[in-house]
Amino acid sequence: MAILKIARMGHPILAQRAQEVADPSAPEIRHLVADMIETMIDANGAGLAAPQVHVPLRVVVFQAPSERTPDTGEERFDHTAPLTVLVNPVIEVLGDELDGGWEGCLSVPGMRGYVERPAHIRYRGFDHEGRAVARTASGFHARVVQHECDHLDGILYPKRMTDLGQLIFESEAKHWARDEG
Ligand code: NI
Repeated sequence: MAILKIARMGHPILAQRAQEVADPSAPEIRHLVADMIETMIDANGAGLAAPQVHVPLRVVVFQAPSERTPDTGEERFDHTAPLTVLVNPVIEVLGDELDGGWEGCLSVPGMRGYVERPAHIRYRGFDHEGRAVARTASGFHARVVQHECDHLDGILYPKRMTDLGQLIFESEAKHWARDEG
């Protein structure tokens, strides 16, 4: 296993569409997933998409804690939360309800932005052993999945923002005690 270098906003690989994986259980995909998990945990991220480690394939890993700690300007993710690997993910939006929340991204270090996204989704894909994964998700779980899958289509969260006045430095988050809902 290895900790991989993370691409930052501006690198072309973050702006392109990633390719489908032909065989989710192929050895090179298992290897990639192991390195992505190690990299995500080392960087204290909630999720990571393959393009963020310079690999243009439709693979994401994430950990969705049941509850996120309130905005203190410091992010801590519960790395005992269930870890999910999704290869070739597909998201279906359930209903019209939107949910706003602050997001960060390992490719946009030091920043946070307020993003509204569909509150309820269903997602499916495969894990790195080729098993089908299908779940419904709400709240932070739904947010993380949508954020990570956006990376596979070359979209970083600032592109999803409606008010760039809410793009801030993480160190100033303490001034924004807005409820994440
Ligand atoms: Ni990200």
